[in-house]
Amino acid sequence: MSDPQQVLSARVQHALVAAFGADYAGADPLIRSSQHADLQSNVSLGLAKKLGRAPRDIANEIVAHLDVADVSEAPEVSGPGFINFTLNGGWIAGQATGLLGDPRLGVPRTEHPRTVIVEYSSPNIAKEMHVGHLRTTIVGDAIARVTDFVGDHLIRDNHVGDWGTPFGMLIEHLVDVGDDSPEAGLLRTDPNAFYQAARVKFDSDPVFADRARERVVKLQSGNDPATMELWDELVELSKAYLRDTYARLRVTLADDDIRGESFYNDLLPGVAEDLEAKGLAWLSDGALCAFPEGFTNRDGSPLPVIIRKSDGGYNYSSTDLATIRYRVDKVNVDRAVYVVGSDQALHFRMVFAVAREAGWLPAGKQFEHAQIGMVQGKDGHRLRTRAGDLVKLSDLLAEGVERARTLLDEAERDTAAPKDGGLDLDAIAEDVGIGAIKYADLSTTRDSAYIFDWDRMISFKGNTGPYLQYATTRIRSIFRRAAIDQADLNGPILVTAPAERELALKLLGFGTVVTQVAATAEPHQLCSYLFEVASLFTTFYEQCPVLKADDEATRQSRLSLCAAVLRVLTTGLGLLGVPLPERM
Ligand code: ARG
Repeated sequence: MSDPQQVLSARVQHALVAAFGADYAGADPLIRSSQHADLQSNVSLGLAKKLGRAPRDIANEIVAHLDVADVSEAPEVSGPGFINFTLNGGWIAGQATGLLGDPRLGVPRTEHPRTVIVEYSSPNIAKEMHVGHLRTTIVGDAIARVTDFVGDHLIRDNHVGDWGTPFGMLIEHLVDVGDDSPEAGLLRTDPNAFYQAARVKFDSDPVFADRARERVVKLQSGNDPATMELWDELVELSKAYLRDTYARLRVTLADDDIRGESFYNDLLPGVAEDLEAKGLAWLSDGALCAFPEGFTNRDGSPLPVIIRKSDGGYNYSSTDLATIRYRVDKVNVDRAVYVVGSDQALHFRMVFAVAREAGWLPAGKQFEHAQIGMVQGKDGHRLRTRAGDLVKLSDLLAEGVERARTLLDEAERDTAAPKDGGLDLDAIAEDVGIGAIKYADLSTTRDSAYIFDWDRMISFKGNTGPYLQYATTRIRSIFRRAAIDQADLNGPILVTAPAERELALKLLGFGTVVTQVAATAEPHQLCSYLFEVASLFTTFYEQCPVLKADDEATRQSRLSLCAAVLRVLTTGLGLLGVPLPERM
C-alpha cells in the first residue's frame, strides 16, 4: 500500500480504536486533501456528539495515540478539529522508488475475485454502428480492461441485435442480390446502406414485404435449414464489419465474445411460462405483460413490461430476462455491467425489477446499467451530417485521423528542431486521431451527454488524448537523447524540489484510482488522474533539469522519476485503450 491517503486512513483508524475502543473500528477517518498541508483527517468533527466532547479535544486525543512518524511530520490539530498531515519527503521518495520497481505500479489485486460480465458495444447486425454505439464500445472496453487488470474473472459480452423482424427483409434482400454481389459486400463495409436498400424495397414493394414477413415466421420457427443458412451468412458478413471496426478502434472484442440476442431464443417461452406460473405476468390486450412493483404511467396506472406480443412474438425485454437467467444460472456471474445508452435506463430498471420479483436475480448479484450519455452535435441533438443523416462511423474516424495529421503537421512546422526522418506519419496520425476520439468519449463523465467538438478533442491543449500521448513521447525522447534504456532506471528517486515532490506524490495514487474505476465502472476518473500526472510532469520538466541536473544522483533520480511517470501513463492509457505512438 503506497497511497498516503490509505496509509493514513489505516493509521488513524488504529488510533481511534486505541483511544476510544473497538466500537470505533469502523469509523471512516475521512482523510481528504488539505489547503494547509498535504492531507487532513476530518473524523473528529463527526464524533463530537457521540463522544460528548469538543472536536479539538478528540483530535488531540487521536494524535496522542497516532503513530505516523515514518510517514509524516508531527500531525497538527487545526481549526475546529482537523488533523493536518505534511508528508515526509523521504517517505514519498521511498514509496515512489518502490512503485517504479512494482510491476503492478501499486494497483492491488482484488482479494476476492468475482466473475464479472462486461456487456458492451452490442450494435444491431446489418445496421451500421452509430456514434452512440461507438461510445458504449469505447467506454465498455476500458471498463473491461480495468476489470481484468484488478484480477476479477472477466467475461466480455457483445449482445448484438441479430434477431427479430428486420431479419426477414434483410434475408430476402440478400436472396435478391446474391451473396457474391457487390450489394452483399456492403455488409462488410457499409452495412447501413444494405439495410436502407432492404428497407426501401420493403416499404415500396408489397410482394417483397410479404416475402419478408413469411421469412420472419420461418426464421422464428428455427426449423427451416435454408433460412438458417441465409441468416448465418448475413451474420458472418456482418461480423467481418465488426472485426474491422474493432481492429481500427483498438477495441479488444473478438468474435467469440459475441453472444447475440439469437442465443437466448430457445429460452424465451420458458420466461413467459414461468412468469405466468408465478402470477407475475398476465394477458393485457392480448399481450403477455409483467407489471413490476413501483412503475406507473403518468396517470398512475401500472406500467407494463411486454413479455410476449399479441402476435405471439417475443421482444427485447423477454430476451433480456432470458439473458439474466442464463447469466445467473449458467455462467454464475457475480456482477454484470451493462454498458448501454442512458436512454434505456427505464428498460433496465424494469427488467431488473421483474427478474428480482421472479427470484431470478438474487440479492447478492450486482447487476447494473452503466449508463452512457448521448454524443450530441453542436445543435444539442444526436450527431448528424449536414444532410441530416446519422454520421457514418468510418467517415467519422477518417476525419479524425485527417485532422490529427493536420495537427501534427502544424506542430512540426512550429518547431525549429530538424525534421525527424523515418517517422511514419500516417501511422502516428492514426494513433493520434483514434486516440483523440476515444479519449473524448472516456474523459467525460460516462452518463452525461457531451457535444462532439473536433477542435477541442484534436488538440495538444487541455485534458485531451494528444496531450497525454505527447507527454509519453516527450519522456521517451529524453531517454532516446541520452541513449538510456528505460529498463535500467530503478531509482533511487529522491524528492527535493517542490515540483518533484508533487509529481512523485501524485504517482502514489494510481492504485486507488484504478481500484475505484473497477468498482464504479467510471473510466473518466482515470482520465482526470492521468491528466493531473501529465500536468505535474510538465511543471516538473520546466522547473527541474533532468539530463543537465547538478549532480549524478539527482540526474539518476530525475530520470527514474521520468520512468515512473512513463510507466503510470502508459499503463493507465493502456487500460483506457488509447493507442500510444512511440514518437510524434
Ligand atoms: N442492440 C441494442 C441497441 O442497439 C443494445 C443492447 C443492449 N444490451 C442489452 N442487454 N439490452 O440498442
